[in-house]
Amino acid sequence: MVQRLQDFLEENISYLKDNGLYNEIDIIEGANGPKITIAGKEYINLSSNNYLGLATDADLKAAAKEAVDSHGVGAGAVRTINGTLDLHDELEKTLAEFKGTEAAIAYQSGFNCNMAAISAVMNKNDAILSDELNHASIIDGCRLSKAKIIRVNHSDMDDLRKKAKEAVESGQYNKVMYITDGVFSMDGDVAKLPEIVEICEEYGIMVYVDDAHGSGVMGKGAGTVKHFGLQDKVDFQIGTLSKAIGVVGGYVAGSQQLIDWLKVQSRPFLFSTSLAPADTKAITTAVKKLMASTELHDKLWDNAHYLKEGLNKLGFNTGESETPITPVIIGDEKKTQTFSKRLMEEGVYVKSIVFPTVPRGTGRVRNMPTAAHTKEMLDEALAVYERVGKELDVIS
Ligand SMILES: Cc1ncc(COP(=O)(O)O)c(C=O)c1O
Repeated sequence: MVQRLQDFLEENISYLKDNGLYNEIDIIEGANGPKITIAGKEYINLSSNNYLGLATDADLKAAAKEAVDSHGVGAGAVRTINGTLDLHDELEKTLAEFKGTEAAIAYQSGFNCNMAAISAVMNKNDAILSDELNHASIIDGCRLSKAKIIRVNHSDMDDLRKKAKEAVESGQYNKVMYITDGVFSMDGDVAKLPEIVEICEEYGIMVYVDDAHGSGVMGKGAGTVKHFGLQDKVDFQIGTLSKAIGVVGGYVAGSQQLIDWLKVQSRPFLFSTSLAPADTKAITTAVKKLMASTELHDKLWDNAHYLKEGLNKLGFNTGESETPITPVIIGDEKKTQTFSKRLMEEGVYVKSIVFPTVPRGTGRVRNMPTAAHTKEMLDEALAVYERVGKELDVIS
């Protein structure tokens, strides 16, 4: 006898519910901005990746509406079958300029970029060295490629050097690649790119940086690779268009040859319909806006410093964060969940993040200040943090 679907679902959903692991998803009434409304109640939103507030930007909305009028609502088919819209072409040229690379290719999501790019280049004869805290989409992209996956301790350059040497000198692999997030999403720390590039150059290893949380945030907006001035040394720059850019989608930026290869070889490009016209035009507008001015980027960092300093002054532990991603580390899983619940009850929307997303005993709530928050909103949030922190003995 094989298990019926209904039995499988009942058993597993009950398990998740019984163990506090079942995530009920809230419905946001209206736009996802610095304040949100859920079930009629207003919250200060510190949970979105809408770093620059562009998800509700007037210029992006106007561009999207214009594109609907000129190009309709759908791209029609995959680009290899039905051609590339002029809007996609404009977007990819703009992205290459933004990242300082020869070319770029857009995908339907950041997740898809990692599915696409890793498996288009790496195969079973190769090895991928991967930081242990890399995002799930990198892990899945690596698995899809069938390459040997070698975990590297988080941002541990001695471990990287040792494993790079072993992989190359073993003579077992045709190609070797190192993959890292640019900015790590749970702690807000930044990859040590200058050392990474040096080690990878020494051993002839490709460098792949997924800068989902660095794009629009680091390097005056152009990302972590630009922040370190390493555009010529990093082979793959991945970015998402759903976070700082405020829309949806992802891209790979690199050499013309790499992008040409991805256009003939990467499966999400070959077999999935491309971004819709409204999204495409809104994204191009956002990227041009970031290239023209650092105003939103500066506002983001100002707010991030303000919130982090406020939390530190109150006595909270914000870990190793070097970016606007601001974890408040509580430790114990149950206490973290209670802390987040109480913050929510008091009108601050921050979710708990616990094992297995982060290591056991490092439960946290993760704050994402944006350029769209006002100082008044951040003060209100800090007052709630102080109240709830004292109530639950997280601070004295
Ligand atoms: C490092 C990293 N890569 C990729 C993604 C996926 O991006 P998207 O939401 O655009 O699919 C994320 C999203 O959280 C991420 O943090």
